Amino acid sequence: MMHIHRLEKIWLAIGVAILVVFLGVIGVGAFAMGMQPPTGHHTIDPEKVSETYPFNNPGLEQVGENEYNAYMIAYAFGFKPAKMEVPLGAKVHFQVTSPDVVHGFQITGTTVNLMAVPGEVNHYTYTFDKPGEYLVLCNEYCGAGHEFMATTIIVK
Ligand code: CUA
Repeated sequence: MMHIHRLEKIWLAIGVAILVVFLGVIGVGAFAMGMQPPTGHHTIDPEKVSETYPFNNPGLEQVGENEYNAYMIAYAFGFKPAKMEVPLGAKVHFQVTSPDVVHGFQITGTTVNLMAVPGEVNHYTYTFDKPGEYLVLCNEYCGAGHEFMATTIIVK
């Protein structure tokens, strides 16, 4: 009886030790992640995109001399704003999100190629040095209307 009792105690101690280590790893991981969020990245409630600043008013917002934030929404199946004019030479900080599923946000002829992810806001900065019409496309298959997702950025 004594031996079994001691063995149970040992097993109990091992079990508790494993639990403590496990919770410790989770705690440290969560703490470390909380302390170091990835730069240039933040979250948003995907169900409230159209009511949440700045996505309640998608488009350009001037933040400096020929420098802008561009708040863009990729949704099934299109982009907001539907059309955007950008001054030539403008430095544009794109901020892109989605209210539904994962979309792509690729501006042809540029290095802009973001994923529009529900719940997240992804950032990319690009300077438009050449005038013209830039086609914006979704490059992630997102459903029946995927092919029709497009908008234009006019630089002049
Ligand atoms: Cu949106 Cu493909």
